[in-house]
Amino acid sequence: MEPGAKSKQPPARNKKDWARILQGVRGTVSYGASLQSYTSFRIGGPAEVLIEPADVEDLRRVMAQARAENIPTFVVGGTNLLIRDGGISGIVVSLKKFKAIRQEPGHVLYAEGGVGMPTLIGYAVRRSLTGLEWGAGIPGTVAGCVVMNAGTRLGEMKDSVKAVRLLDLRGRMRDIPAADIPFSYRRAHLPRGIVVGVWLQLKPGEHGRVEKTVKEYLQYRKDTQPLTLPSAGCVFKNPPHDSAGRLVEAAGLKGVRVGDAQVSEKHANFVVNVGHARAGDVVTLIKKVRAAVKKQSGITLELELKVVGQA
Ligand code: EPU
Repeated sequence: MEPGAKSKQPPARNKKDWARILQGVRGTVSYGASLQSYTSFRIGGPAEVLIEPADVEDLRRVMAQARAENIPTFVVGGTNLLIRDGGISGIVVSLKKFKAIRQEPGHVLYAEGGVGMPTLIGYAVRRSLTGLEWGAGIPGTVAGCVVMNAGTRLGEMKDSVKAVRLLDLRGRMRDIPAADIPFSYRRAHLPRGIVVGVWLQLKPGEHGRVEKTVKEYLQYRKDTQPLTLPSAGCVFKNPPHDSAGRLVEAAGLKGVRVGDAQVSEKHANFVVNVGHARAGDVVTLIKKVRAAVKKQSGITLELELKVVGQA
């Protein structure tokens, strides 16, 4: 910011304040770190403070101390997320260290929130467990996929979730059975808090078949989606009985660019980062796309992408 410019933000906390606020935190703490590498879009401003808690107890401490000081917290999950160029004030939490997976009796897997979907699917395939094949190629974390009830035409997260372990805003650890979680299209209606782990109810499958389904599905995605360029997955929700990709293509928008943000040539419901796209470019491009689709088809596309942070 220019010297003398007025900030709308509350007065910045200095390192001494943070040292007091974060007293006892054992995880990794960084100040002003870019969030680009925490999103599959490779776009985003800095976090005022970025914390990778060491474990659940550490996370509980971070959340309790943030709450006591009235500091906003945000959990960065990876896909379907656009962080604006001004970044995020307060505490950004990454569950990068929450990586454990274990098998429990009855073909159940427990995965900590930071486990990547590809890792989880690989784990299930090695154990010949079926139920997660629909997610092949989804790059997000398990927690992120639960919160948004990620899905494809083969299935969705809600089909496999048995229970969710959530740290609520009061610092209570709650194990919530799937029956108590209303799921809707691309959303799990959970109490406010952080998903730290998920139980998935899978079924015994035939190894060759599970592996083949995952491979075929990955191939379908590779053939139809721009998986080699940074993106946030699908930008818009599919309107009832139609496909956002089809509508965007029909409006003649494939390949349209604002800065380094481009409507994918391969799948029109993806915006890809072809270089050093800024969040502002993506937002401008999305506005253009929505307006053009509305004009062409009369349909208002709804965002699947979650946009956070300051412009
Ligand atoms: N289509 C076009 N032009 C395009 C893209 C698609 O005409 O540029 C047409 C296709 O030809 C097809 C129809 O639209 O007839 C559906 O396309 P596709 O099979 O690619 O599926 P989608 O509805 O566009 C959904 C999910 C994807 C998921 C795929 C594959 C949503 C919003 N999208 O896409 O999920 O990977 O199915 O199962 O539900 C995501 O959520 O981030 C995501 C990418």
